Amino acid sequence: MSSLAPHVPSSEEAVRKMLELAELKRGECLYDLGSGDGRIIIMAAKEFGARAVGIELREDLVRQTKRKIEELNLTGSVKVIHGDLMQADITPADVVTLYLTTTANEKVAPKLQKELRPGARVVSFCFKIPGWTPTKILDMDTRSLYLYVIPGK
Ligand SMILES: C[S@@+](CC[C@H](N)C(=O)[O-])C[C@H]1O[C@@H](n2cnc3c(N)ncnc32)[C@H](O)[C@@H]1O
Repeated sequence: MSSLAPHVPSSEEAVRKMLELAELKRGECLYDLGSGDGRIIIMAAKEFGARAVGIELREDLVRQTKRKIEELNLTGSVKVIHGDLMQADITPADVVTLYLTTTANEKVAPKLQKELRPGARVVSFCFKIPGWTPTKILDMDTRSLYLYVIPGK
């Protein structure tokens, strides 16, 4: 397992904008690849009514996320998996969120293309997915959010 990005949490505002940009709906399934302290998966469930799964390499962050999920009584809708995002099965996702690096996005891109269904949305904070054309770009101060929609196969 190798780390594709350091742990730098998104701001609360960035998380909300990512989920709004993805038009995440009640009952949909969100995956956050590299879920950090779980802030995206928790907001996805609490504020948007989604089912959410986080994949995180760092055990301390997984423990922290599990504690928060229990404290907030979200065990029925939020789950965090300790492991390498490159090895995770992401086929159930309607929405995937990324806050990694451009190089990491380049590595993840073929997996997204292969495993996600047509119409699934991918939102990347700060970093583009090289070679993909965003459907929408949302500028937030000095940073941007990129929305991609998986095309038909
Ligand atoms: C920039 S942080 C983003 C955290 C969270 N998604 C957010 O927006 O607040 C990137 C996270 O990806 C995790 N990560 C890096 N490489 C990973 C890998 N191969 N598998 C799973 N998690 C990984 C890091 O440990 C870190 O917590």
